[in-house]
Amino acid sequence: MSGEIQPVRGMNDVLPAEIGAWQHFEAVTRALLTAYGYEEIRVPLLERTELFKRAIGEHTDVVGKEMYTFTDRGGDSLTLRPEATAGIVRALISNRMLRGARHKLWCSGPMFRHEAPQAGRYRQFWQVDVEAVGCPGPDVDAELIALSARLWQRLGIGGLTLEINSLGTPESRRAYRARLIEYFERHESRLDADSRRRLAGNPLRILDSKNPDMQELIAGAPLLTEHLDAESREHFEALGRMLDAVGVLYKINPRLVRGLDYYNRTVFEWVTTSTGAQNAVCSGGRYDGLIAQLGGEATPAVGFAMGVERLVALLTAAGGTPAAAVPDVYVVVSGERAAAEALAIVERLRSEAPRLRFELNAGGGNFKAQFRRADKSGAALALIIGDDELARGVVAMKPLRVESGQSECPIGALAAGVEAALAGLGSG
Ligand code: HAM
Repeated sequence: MSGEIQPVRGMNDVLPAEIGAWQHFEAVTRALLTAYGYEEIRVPLLERTELFKRAIGEHTDVVGKEMYTFTDRGGDSLTLRPEATAGIVRALISNRMLRGARHKLWCSGPMFRHEAPQAGRYRQFWQVDVEAVGCPGPDVDAELIALSARLWQRLGIGGLTLEINSLGTPESRRAYRARLIEYFERHESRLDADSRRRLAGNPLRILDSKNPDMQELIAGAPLLTEHLDAESREHFEALGRMLDAVGVLYKINPRLVRGLDYYNRTVFEWVTTSTGAQNAVCSGGRYDGLIAQLGGEATPAVGFAMGVERLVALLTAAGGTPAAAVPDVYVVVSGERAAAEALAIVERLRSEAPRLRFELNAGGGNFKAQFRRADKSGAALALIIGDDELARGVVAMKPLRVESGQSECPIGALAAGVEAALAGLGSG
């Protein structure tokens, strides 16, 4: 067999030209999460299929049709994680970390969902997932949302709006679900095929339908917010007051239901208008029942996950990406003895001036070709290691960005000479 091997559909390479934006996003996010007291946790990419079925729900799109599931050589059914919350909860339980303790955690990495790929929607995508475990109050919900708002500000991403809703308790949700089924059954002839399929298993998801023909019917459906129990209503109102107090604007969207079954009370989503149909860049909510449902001690929790590809695209569009790093010094090599000794000289420089970036010419080439590469590299200074110079115990230096002649520096004092030359050029 020969020929080019195609990449897997919906799975992207992040190329060096894009990595600056990714690393900037990751560095700003990590610093902010640390400042809010969150600690990193890393959980496996593979979990038992049962975990996701129980946590996310059999009737959700994610479990029903999007999971990468296979039987391993030992006969176990495993699934590539479609999200991180279930795995983090599993890790807290497996490692006996609950016992009334509180945990503020974050996790970053690729997730896998077999969706129809399009701009902003992939089959492998990265999330930064943030979870606060052990706190029941709306103050934690509000602080998490304030954290995300501050992150957009630090990244210079504008144009995001926050939508919030409350799903109430499992009981109030069950009652609402029954009312919703009753309503949609009364109008069954107006349901599209997708909604008809959802009616029995997951009628709340019908509210999420993007089909324009369904919108009128959906607009007339009973509202979840009208069926909230008193405590959930109080929780939701307190959250609203706290967001007001920190100046985070929000819109109450009574149709926001989320695609995963584990939520109760607060749910929220940051949306943008600029990425077309794939407009959610960060979403989450409270999942007070999940930990007990997965066999741990009953512990309230709330969290969210950001879609990194979508945020990096916004960051790049806003021009908030740092310029690609360029070397400070390009090292040109000329002659046989120089070729043999250049690496040792540059390695010594790297030890003595660890902050500087040296690019040693690779792949040979005559003087002219090497200087062309030096120019292209963006370096401020060229070092010329040549046989003539070595015979005299010196290395030549030439500024690359300003008109200036060549100078020489004794090999023994090269690090100091390079630093002084760069300082004189206003770089390094
Ligand atoms: P989710 O809404 O399924 O929630 O995903 C969170 C974010 O991941 C979305 O807002 C979106 O930005 C991004 N995302 C989801 N699917 C794709 C895709 N196919 N391609 C690109 N980006 C995507 C969760 O995953 C929950 N675990 C969030 C959470 C944490 N809730 C509580 N704690």
